Amino acid sequence: MKKQLTIGLFGFGCVGTGLYEVLNKTTLLQASIKHIVIKDLSKKRIIDASYFSTDANRILEDGEINVVVELINDYEAAYEIVTRALKAGKHVVSANKKLIAYYLDELLSLAKENQVSFLYEASVGGSIPIIRNLEEYYNNDSLSNINGIVNGTTNYILTKTSEGQSFDTALKTAQELGFAELDPTSDVDGFDAKYKLVLLLKHAFGFTARQDQVWNYGIRQLKDWDATYAREKSLKIKLLAFGTRIDNQIVGFVAPHLIPANHFAFNVENEFNAVVVEALFSDKQLFLGKGAGSHPTASAVLSDISALQFDYAYEYKKSASEDTLNFETGFSVKVYLSATSQEKLDQIEFLETHETYAGQSHSYKIGVISYEEIQKQNWNDASDYFLAVIPDSVQLIKKSELEQENRTHLIEEKLS
Ligand code: HSE
Repeated sequence: MKKQLTIGLFGFGCVGTGLYEVLNKTTLLQASIKHIVIKDLSKKRIIDASYFSTDANRILEDGEINVVVELINDYEAAYEIVTRALKAGKHVVSANKKLIAYYLDELLSLAKENQVSFLYEASVGGSIPIIRNLEEYYNNDSLSNINGIVNGTTNYILTKTSEGQSFDTALKTAQELGFAELDPTSDVDGFDAKYKLVLLLKHAFGFTARQDQVWNYGIRQLKDWDATYAREKSLKIKLLAFGTRIDNQIVGFVAPHLIPANHFAFNVENEFNAVVVEALFSDKQLFLGKGAGSHPTASAVLSDISALQFDYAYEYKKSASEDTLNFETGFSVKVYLSATSQEKLDQIEFLETHETYAGQSHSYKIGVISYEEIQKQNWNDASDYFLAVIPDSVQLIKKSELEQENRTHLIEEKLS
């Protein structure tokens, strides 16, 4: 039976306002917002001031409110709100990927202990219904890959810069449109996409990756010569979150990719996100939709609220296999690496070299590099370099002692 939902809302920014508007426009849902807690009471709002206060207890101690919707930026403050709400026996809907990537297991235990639901569809891919599909639809189909554009801001910037706009102008517009995080470093350095990847790995493979295990490299160091290289070769640069399961090994990272025209992400532009799910029986399936913005993101929050009418909760059925899975760092990947000088380029060790260029302004190399070598640099701050991954090139190099040995021989042979 459908139940009446009385909502306490934290945050009334881009998504919070959007939620108010979409709730008002939908007639099928028995849900109403009773109170909204915000940080700044002096800002002008689109609804009556009587809805608002700065007092979290007005929601957390109100017995009539059975759903807390958390849509604030600050993940530490969100942690306090969400844990208190769950302990108070309220269902929680959140869009806070950073909060969830940091505290997922703890929040799940709390939700379970208190027999309430903790839903967060809006935290990954904006309007794209990816979490619930991974949870429910692919329950009997073994997943091998999850790969996609999961950050609207960087995709918007990459689209606009490829049309000739400057990086700063494109970022400013993304901020004005409400796509970017309060601190856009999270977007441009790939942190936001990494938090989302952590959630995708959990729901696709049942694997809890620590957010600090996952390599995230963004687009801040992209230079004009890299964009020119891509254009001249009819390629595009896209920031992709990549996750794969090879036997019991999980590989996951966020990095710019240099993709050809037949790649699924090639024509995914502006704030659109796209996620490809690859499974044993269904093969590849593409989910496409707006990944950021007021109404698209609010639509996913709305869907979670709606699911609560029927007491929906994620079951994390795939987590049963978690103990047998490992986060694998022993792999190699093919990359394009440019550097401001040949000397700088030579400082990075490649396992194989496929193409090189040495010019006046810069040099580049395309070849295979180990993840171990990649981890030696903080690429987000390495302004002499730009690195982009070549799709479908990840290879495990440490699957077993034997394979490791074979591989070493092979590499030695190639280099000699
Ligand atoms: N800053 C995020 C993005 C918002 O650009 O994708 C949606 O999660």
